[in-house]
Amino acid sequence: MKKLAIILGMGIVVTMINCSPKKASQPSAAPQMTKAIAQEQYTIAQLASGQALYAAHCGTCHKLYKVETFNDAKWNQILNRMIPKTDVSTTDGTLIRAYVLANAAQN
Ligand code: HEC
Repeated sequence: MKKLAIILGMGIVVTMINCSPKKASQPSAAPQMTKAIAQEQYTIAQLASGQALYAAHCGTCHKLYKVETFNDAKWNQILNRMIPKTDVSTTDGTLIRAYVLANAAQN
């Protein structure tokens, strides 16, 4: 009987672990950058770095798209998919985003 209680007890513990909420470490969506934020909060030097990174990493699989092709909202959607396709660091990814958004089409 004691053995059965232990087995049942373990079953409950396992069930509780399985039902525990998903890890809190999932990145919560960072507030999206806009054209205005990119222009105001990044230096000319940072935007120039972003341009160099863009040229080096964003034309390897396809042509280098003109940054004025899309507005900032559309670019954010695209960059959310494309930056992870590159091997740039998070910091460099942000510089790419700043350069692209600062020069994106007007809304
Ligand atoms: C590993 C290959 C790869 C890299 C690196 C890459 N892309 Fe792409 N890109 C793709 C593929 C594949 C598509 C077409 C399918 C899609 O839209 O997901 C695409 C599509 C696009 C489009 C067209 C989207 C549309 O909706 O018309 C744009 C713009 C773009 N990429 C920009 C970028 C930028 C900016 C970077 C650098 C941050 C980048 N790509 C890096 C593979 C890549």
